[in-house]
Amino acid sequence: MKRRHFTKICTSLIVSASTSNRLLADETKTNYRRSLLYAKNSTALDINDLAIGEAYLFFYPYVTTPCLLINLGSQVNPGTENANNVQASNSWRGGVGMNNSIVAYSAICSHKMTHPAKEISFINYRHEPVSFYSHDEGKTIDKSGLISCCSERSVYDPAQGARVLGGPAPQPLAAIELEYNESTNQLYATGSYGADMYDRFFEKFGFRASMEHKIEDPKTLSTEQVVVQKLSDYSKQTIKC
Ligand code: FES
Repeated sequence: MKRRHFTKICTSLIVSASTSNRLLADETKTNYRRSLLYAKNSTALDINDLAIGEAYLFFYPYVTTPCLLINLGSQVNPGTENANNVQASNSWRGGVGMNNSIVAYSAICSHKMTHPAKEISFINYRHEPVSFYSHDEGKTIDKSGLISCCSERSVYDPAQGARVLGGPAPQPLAAIELEYNESTNQLYATGSYGADMYDRFFEKFGFRASMEHKIEDPKTLSTEQVVVQKLSDYSKQTIKC
């Protein structure tokens, strides 16, 4: 049994190939270590400090696998059959925080696994409008509030479980489950939803990730405390397209 599979909850939802781009890839949820999100200066992260529209980065569920943390500024509803074909009762919970506007996703593109690195990031959150060819509308549109991978222009909607809106990505980004404790104002990452790319990431980028993070085993699980920083502070260059 793989180490990351502490607990796996699978349901029998079957998604047809023709519609899979539009959905959270499946209802599979994997529980990982419950990690408290920390600010870079080693103080507890105050979610009120998460600026709307800023892309934040943390590494979870492994110390080498990057995730985007985003305050979208408006309520993000749980998956519903209409929006994501995922039943809210046992699936991704949507946004958390005071306004249910904070979401997190794996920052490993589901196409060819482009991800933020120290030198450069081709994947980013874009609060301002980006122009792309929409699978839904069959034409080029401008839309704001999206995760955009500039490698081959895949576009994901973080307000809808990171479903694919455009480009060659075959499936949504894995959604990171967040847990918000209102009384302590603390935010935790607890698991991952959907078809993740972790194993393929380790196969292809494990060695480089080990070097970048100065760790022998890239599959080392994140600890109980995980640092959050701005993506623009981590990557020297962030490409926007
Ligand atoms: S790797 Fe992201 S679009 Fe190709």
